[in-house]
Parts: sequence; structure tokens; C-alpha cells
Amino acid sequence: MPYRTAQQIADGVYAVGAAAPQATRFHGYHVSQGVTFNAYLVAGNDGKYTLIDTVHADHAQELLARIASVTDPRNVETIIVNHTEPDHSGAFATIRKATQAKTVYATQAAAKFLQSLYGATDVTVVKSGDEVTLGGRVYKFLCTPMVHWPDNMVTYLPAEQILFSNDAFGQHYATQSALDTQNNVCDAVTQAQHYFANIVMPYRTPAAKAVEAALSLPLRMIAPSHGVIWTENIGRIGKLYKALCAGETTCATLVYDSMWGGTAARAQEAYDELHKIHSVIYTFDLRKDHTSDVMAKLAVSSHVCIGSPTYNGYPTPHISTLVAEIEALKPPLTEYSLFGTFGWGGGAAKKLTEKLDALGLVKKFDLTHA
Ligand code: FEO
Repeated sequence: MPYRTAQQIADGVYAVGAAAPQATRFHGYHVSQGVTFNAYLVAGNDGKYTLIDTVHADHAQELLARIASVTDPRNVETIIVNHTEPDHSGAFATIRKATQAKTVYATQAAAKFLQSLYGATDVTVVKSGDEVTLGGRVYKFLCTPMVHWPDNMVTYLPAEQILFSNDAFGQHYATQSALDTQNNVCDAVTQAQHYFANIVMPYRTPAAKAVEAALSLPLRMIAPSHGVIWTENIGRIGKLYKALCAGETTCATLVYDSMWGGTAARAQEAYDELHKIHSVIYTFDLRKDHTSDVMAKLAVSSHVCIGSPTYNGYPTPHISTLVAEIEALKPPLTEYSLFGTFGWGGGAAKKLTEKLDALGLVKKFDLTHA
């Protein structure tokens, strides 16, 4: 039995995307509740259909089967490509060939990527604010560059008040049913924050503008390209996104690695010191916890307290990866502190101090010593 079947989410609007509930990785980072690649099929009043986004190439046949459960795929006359990252466009060439869709709409940047990735030379380029009418329905396009690539746009159905938001408001959360009201909303919100931290966070500034524009629309439904569709919880996901885009912080994060248990043994001392300045602290042990999960909490942390042994003159590889992720994903940190063990020659604290100072963070305390 397929994990999901096509699900009607509004009059003539179907969720037809794919789910990979066993997936534990998404372009290199860790996910704990699977992955979905949402795509949507919209019926016109002329018997023709519009497909909004495709799926990862591995799931092309799954998408085709779900389209076929609604209509003959050859009735798909139009494909709207909101974003060309391969999780959404990987099946594009297969689906275009199977459906023989006549028209493809995408932004200028997406058209260029569709040509270089799949050889598509006949894409109709749309600009922000453009509208088209297909089968009696109006589709409005809003460009949202850098949420999460330069090519992104979202598609809005004004009459239906449905926003197909692509990556924005998404979550890596594979479930049997498409709507928020059919799922555990707390899990969906948790996964939305995890997704934001690992995908959208470096682009907080353009994301804030896109989110403000999106949330100013009359909305009955936000249908992202990952995870559940927001209906009764639009206010909740909107509030979360506004806070995350604004870099609002509510806590501190303590994270450490340990080779022989020495640094782990000092974690309580560091926690107690940190607790003098922060009341809410999340703690991670990188011997078992994944950096991606740390990033989800760093998205709302003002302080990171890092514990590392010295490993050949450097922090451990896990800690070095964490710091590289802090540099790349740009959480809203302003402070840091250190603890750990010295080894026989030291080095971890010096390297971490140089790096975190260079990122503009202010050191609050240092419990590393010989
Ligand atoms: Fe879900 Fe940026 O791709």
C-alpha cells in the first residue's frame, strides 16, 4: 500500500506528492520523522489540470500514479515550477514527457536552471505579481528569491485563498494525511523550526519580506512543498516564522563532545555557570545527538556554550562541524562560552575562541584550563 494516496484538500485541488517516511537524511542533514515532496494538482473547469511542482526523481512514478488516480496524466496541460532544487524538480523531465504538458511557468532564474538541468527551452517566464487564468482559476505568482534559492516563487489562488508556498512553512514530516488538523500539530511545528534552522535560517532577511507578503494575503490554506498543509494553524506557523525570521531568542544551548569522558564530566559545571545568566538551556551531547538537531535550538538561542576536548591541537571533528554550521547557517547568537579539557598541549579553546570571536560573538566565560 502506498504511504500516501492523492488527497483532495479543497474543491478540485489535490495533494499528489510523495513521501519517504523511512528517510533519515535530507541533502546531508539529519531528519527524524521522514521526508515529503509535496506537489499539487488543480482541476480547471475545462477538464484540464495544472500541476504545481514535481518531486524528487526517485519518486516520479509515485507522483504519476497519484495524478493518474485523479485524472489521465495527459490532461495535465500546465506545470508551475516554484523552485528547481532537485527535491522539487528532479521528476520534471519525466513528468513533462508523461503528461505532455504544453506550458511551464517559472521565474527567470528557474527557467535558466530548468534549461541547464533538463534542457527545457520553452519555459514561460513570470514576474512577481503576474496572474494567469487556467481553466477558470486565477493563479498569481509572487517571487520569493532566496527562500530558499534565487529562483523561488510562490503561487497563490486568490479565489480559493490557497498559497502554494514551496519551501517556506515546510517541514520534514512524513505523515499519512496531508492536513495539519489530521496530524500532531506540535510535531509539525517542531519540525517546521528544525527545517527553518537547517534550510532557511541563513536567508532570514529575504525570508522575512516574503513571509510578511505571504501572511498579508487572505489565507485559508498554506500548502508547502514539504510536510503538512496549514489550515487551522496558519496563525501558529505564521507567528513562528515571524519570530524565527526576526531572530528572536528565548534560550541558551549547551553542546559538547567528549573523547574519554573528561569534557562530559565538566558539562554540569558549565551548565551551572550558564544557568547564572540563562534560565532556559537546551543540552546536547554530540556523541549521540546530531548537529542538525542542535541547529534547531540555536535558531532561538542567544548563547552557545561549547565543550570540546583538544584533538591533535584542534576541537574534535564533531565540534569543528558544529562551528562550521554556525558560520554557514547564521543562528541569531550573540554570546558564547567554553569548557573542556586541555589534552597534553591545548589548542581547542584557542581555535574556538579565534573562530567565535571572528563571528562577532562575545565570550561570557571560559572553563577550559590545563
Ligand atoms: Fe525543498 Fe530548496 O528545496
